[in-house]
Amino acid sequence: MAKARTQFVCQNCGTVHTRWAGKCDGCGEWNTIVEEDPMGGIGAGPGKVPKKGRPVTLTSLSGEIEEAPRIPTGMAELDRATGGGFVRGSAVLIGGDPGIGKSTLLMQAAAALSRKGRRVIYVSGEEAVAQVRLRAQRLQAAETDVLLAAETNVEDILATLAEGKRPDLVIIDSIQTLWSDTADSAPGTVTQVRTGVQAMIRFAKQTGATMVLVGHVTKDGQIAGPRVVEHMVDAVLYFEGDRGHHYRILRTVKNRFGPTDEIGVFEMSDRGLREVANPSELFLGERNEKAPGAAVFAGMEGTRPVLVEVQALVAQTSLGTPRRAVVGWDSSRLSMILAVLEAHCGVRLGSHDVYLNVAGGYRISEPAADMAVASALVSSLAGLALPADCVYFGEVSLSGAVRPVAHTAQRLKEAEKLGFARAVLPSASPDLPKGTAGRWSEIESLPDLVARIAGSRVRAVEEMDGN
Ligand code: TYD
Ligand code: MG
Repeated sequence: MAKARTQFVCQNCGTVHTRWAGKCDGCGEWNTIVEEDPMGGIGAGPGKVPKKGRPVTLTSLSGEIEEAPRIPTGMAELDRATGGGFVRGSAVLIGGDPGIGKSTLLMQAAAALSRKGRRVIYVSGEEAVAQVRLRAQRLQAAETDVLLAAETNVEDILATLAEGKRPDLVIIDSIQTLWSDTADSAPGTVTQVRTGVQAMIRFAKQTGATMVLVGHVTKDGQIAGPRVVEHMVDAVLYFEGDRGHHYRILRTVKNRFGPTDEIGVFEMSDRGLREVANPSELFLGERNEKAPGAAVFAGMEGTRPVLVEVQALVAQTSLGTPRRAVVGWDSSRLSMILAVLEAHCGVRLGSHDVYLNVAGGYRISEPAADMAVASALVSSLAGLALPADCVYFGEVSLSGAVRPVAHTAQRLKEAEKLGFARAVLPSASPDLPKGTAGRWSEIESLPDLVARIAGSRVRAVEEMDGN
């Protein structure tokens, strides 16, 4: 038998060290390393007393596949993010900042499933029964048959779940409150959270119930965040949003039974979360079409096109070092676009502050936004508003060339649906809709784009002279 050695685990990031240290090499946090017994805990090992192994039946890769049966909630945006509904016997982690609306979303999902006759158990470790009831009343979920418990002990929860008919869906809110008698460390530590989650996952696999686990994203080193259990669960969804805005995005980052990079969009109202079927309309809601520095980006989120406005402000700096501030996009990507504009297009920004914002608090991760960002920057610098009925997309390379991106046809279709007649896109874009070629401005390189935007002033003056 392997020698049981104690290990030292960082309570912030989960890195395992062989000896204690004041600072974790993994995340750089101080005083987060705690000694742990790897043999302790429900799932951490076979327990202190070694037991004789039981042979399991080996099987082949070919053969009957039981199609993973799903339980759709009927909330289209949630079902989209999970890939068509919760999979039986799977464990889903829903992470997010405290107060973003995780409990609200799950209470609504629980109510929806319960109305369809499913057995749903909601275990709250954070709120008392009365508080959960109050929320349920607000969400008009109080009259459903959702079963409620306020409990944090893993063994007690498992004993409760094992009683009566097998539940279809179990919600554990939240994993950070779980604690097990078998793990030595304090509640909220990596060991406790992992032990609790492992026990819940085992229950799901054994019974075929779907287990939804809520995890708070925390910056506090003493409470283990959802990242430390991401590898154990079947699907990971993050619920995101900006506190200053009402809408929330449910983003899939891992899914063993469906696509990742899908999003579900919701709007927080006084009656809970409302589904937003067409996010583009929401993000483009408050556009000022005459202002310079705004470009509409035709983006993609998974299989769904999303139109969003990119806003730039370029202004003379009063500081020694000009400021660069970005909200909703990658700041190193902005630096790259600024460098390409300087090096290849003769656009001098060294004495200008640059601010970039994605409207509505939305976050773009696609490089395809390069062209929209560059257009917004040039438009702001030149003080020229871009045409209101035009969308922009395309990736910019360091040489200044503009590269085609995927899903051209879908982006253009969505733009057209929302009344955008024109588009600036990379030349040689594949799958352009037939018979529409004359309507798109195909751009080969960033200098072309700058010339086009700057040229619009010349054209405007000529038109005025002509009249
Ligand atoms: P909650 O679901 O408790 O967040 P989490 O579980 O992620 O910590 O949501 C908390 C916020 O949502 C709170 O600030 C109030 C707001 N809210 C509404 O605006 N409308 C509602 O109907 C509900 C239930 C909550
Ligand atoms: Mg909550």
